[in-house]
Amino acid sequence: MTANILDGHVHAQILIDSIETELDRLSHVPGLAVVLVGDDPASHVYVQSKVRMAGRLGLRGEVELLPHDASEAELLAVIATLNARDDVDGILVQLPLPAHIDALRVMAAVDPSKDVDGLHALNAGRLFHGDDALVPCTPLGCLRLIKSIRPDLTGCHAVVIGSSNIVGKPMAALLLKEQATVTQTHIHTSGIADICRQADILVSAVGKAGLVRGDWIKPQAIVIDVGTTRVKTADGRTTLRGDVLFDEAVQVAGAITPVPRGVGPMTIACLMENTVKAAKARRA
Ligand code: GUN
Repeated sequence: MTANILDGHVHAQILIDSIETELDRLSHVPGLAVVLVGDDPASHVYVQSKVRMAGRLGLRGEVELLPHDASEAELLAVIATLNARDDVDGILVQLPLPAHIDALRVMAAVDPSKDVDGLHALNAGRLFHGDDALVPCTPLGCLRLIKSIRPDLTGCHAVVIGSSNIVGKPMAALLLKEQATVTQTHIHTSGIADICRQADILVSAVGKAGLVRGDWIKPQAIVIDVGTTRVKTADGRTTLRGDVLFDEAVQVAGAITPVPRGVGPMTIACLMENTVKAAKARRA
């Protein structure tokens, strides 16, 4: 028997429908500002998708574009302006930033009440305290997918591969909050295959195509693949590959996300959810 395939578009649409209902009850239109520095083509595509979805939902979406050589001071000035604007409820600074800019300093400059990426230390700290917080969109989307299959995670063993601030660490914190037993691993973890084989829930977020083989997976586990690595196919096309070797894993897992059409659409839907949450909290 092959795994249940978790279609990110289907689950994202369920979330979008519920956000639309919530928007009908709001007396003002939430505003989302996305800041993009430089001309990385993949980042431009991601930002367009975010702003397009905001428009589809009737949110006010805008992009602040800065050139690749913009200084950190210029970026901080843009953020200060967005922090001060009453019509902006959510601010997202697209990552990665050019190497000459200190990303942590930039995250710290975003008003925590508008931090729809959940990357400000205050929101990260609240999440680790189990308090209500704006939570990074990708792990939030992953948790929704996991809970669509297994609503109660109490006592199950979750293994997270990856320890980034944007996915790995908040993912582990969210799973811990759900009473799962969490093992955080990364590419330097020794015996990683054996650890993964114990996972009822396996989330991989390292960006290493094909890292997770079928024999790393416990039968019937829920497997969430956050990796998106661009690779060239034999006929010269560019395609996206996940961290998980899908064709092998689908034979063993109970449920699995594909790449693409898995986690990606959930990230965007959760960004919309965070923007509405921020807008409601700021005006409560
Ligand atoms: N780059 C890739 N994913 C993300 C994300 O979720 N947030 C931000 N700010 N940048 C990203």
